[in-house]
Amino acid sequence: MQLRIESSTQAFARPRSSGTLSVLMKVASHQLRCTGCAAAISPDAAPADFRCPVCSGLYDVVYPWSSAALRNFSDRPGSVTSGSMMPDTNLPNPSALRWLWQERRTSTMPVDQSGVWRFRDLLPILQNPENPVTLREGNTPLYDLPRSAKSLGIDFLLAKHQGISNPTGSFKDTGMTAALSVALERGYEWVACASTGNTSASMAAYAARAGLRSVVLIPEGKIAWGKLSQSMDYGAVTLQLRTDFDGCVRILNELIRRLPIYLLNSVNPYRAEGQKTLAFELVEQLEGQVPEHILVPGGNLANGAAIGKGFREMLELRLIPRLPKISVIQAEGANPLVRSWMENDGETLVPVVADTRASAIRIGNPASFRKAVDTIRSTGGWIAQVSEQEIALAKAEIGAEGIGCEPASAATLAGLKKLVAGGRITPEERVVLILTGHTLKDPEYTIDYHRGTLLDRAELAQATPSGLALHAALRKPPQVLDADTDTVLRAIDAVLLPSPLSS
Ligand code: F0G
Repeated sequence: MQLRIESSTQAFARPRSSGTLSVLMKVASHQLRCTGCAAAISPDAAPADFRCPVCSGLYDVVYPWSSAALRNFSDRPGSVTSGSMMPDTNLPNPSALRWLWQERRTSTMPVDQSGVWRFRDLLPILQNPENPVTLREGNTPLYDLPRSAKSLGIDFLLAKHQGISNPTGSFKDTGMTAALSVALERGYEWVACASTGNTSASMAAYAARAGLRSVVLIPEGKIAWGKLSQSMDYGAVTLQLRTDFDGCVRILNELIRRLPIYLLNSVNPYRAEGQKTLAFELVEQLEGQVPEHILVPGGNLANGAAIGKGFREMLELRLIPRLPKISVIQAEGANPLVRSWMENDGETLVPVVADTRASAIRIGNPASFRKAVDTIRSTGGWIAQVSEQEIALAKAEIGAEGIGCEPASAATLAGLKKLVAGGRITPEERVVLILTGHTLKDPEYTIDYHRGTLLDRAELAQATPSGLALHAALRKPPQVLDADTDTVLRAIDAVLLPSPLSS
């Protein structure tokens, strides 16, 4: 056994060591700070598992202009809204930044066309910032959801669709371009992740683009087909393990101890640097306004924290006057955050054995639990859990808006309904849902829903009478007919009844 590991090690090149000059440059541009004990380290000292050797906390990337505020952030939840904490020196100029970011939109250079690297001034993580591994990620659309807003009785409801425009169809691309560019600069030849499907698809694409080899660990039979096909298409070594996502993470941690593979799970702090640019892009799209609420689906719990970091940095730089509330929505069957909040006010993680059809967020032991709790607390956000029936209905409603999304993303709309019903979100507040993945990621789910085979009786029985009526109106099962015009006309006639959706 030992021999096999030794021999496989040969296949992995050791990372090239970076020269003294480049180390100095990197130290000058950013540091990694533990979110647990606040110990700061140089990027070159990052442990392979990106966990603090003292307290096992995860790292955040901090910059000279952000460090003071971030140091205070974990000590004093909520206090980041105070402008008095801003460091006085080395602050990028807000107006100059806004101008520069707009200017780059007309450029034909890939680095400027990327919706992540267009904001590179606020993620100076590369020695060669003009040449990242990019597939022109980001630049994702912001749609209104008029029918959902009307039925909820709220005035302003938008969806930032990270599944559209991103090259592999999910928000993971915004983080992957950043972290994979770091892997390449640091001389790694192999990268790896454990995934519920989207991280692996994204990593495989960016690794292929960069000429790196990638290893994907996914739970066998528990990821959507679209995602599985992507990692194969992009040439990753795709390993389906007979376990769940949390089991894949455990094996991956063993692997990186034995082999010089660069870890690209969301514990890698550079992923958040790319994902945080959603905040910059959203504020631009809203012409400088900040919504009151942002809702994200929660799995490994990194995305909400990354978006929160983006907004915090904008606040520190006086690009915005206040923070939005960031709320995280989980599936009832994969709810460790909600459970921890109910059992101990979010002080310690209560892991669960996760089970939900929204396979992207089927995670019981989320790595970024602490970061997510800090983000929710410091922004005044909420948490909610939603049932399988509620997710399915919300997904069909988003589909009926002509947008569509994968099941995990629809948890946001289902969660919004709960927060509005509970008075946590009021009608005049502006709400943005983060839709994280494209509807084609998981076509099987959609087909099962419309054929009526997705939800079982017990799940449907949980729906309210109006929910049941909505399910009936939204379900559009495919019909198999003879190739005969009259038969087709009869089928069309049958659906020309007044629809509850049009009232
Ligand atoms: N939505 C989608 C579509 C996802 O793929 C994920 C996570 C999430 C939401 C949750 O984001 O983990 O930052 O809280 N997918 C990971 C993966 C775990 O491996 O693709 P999170």
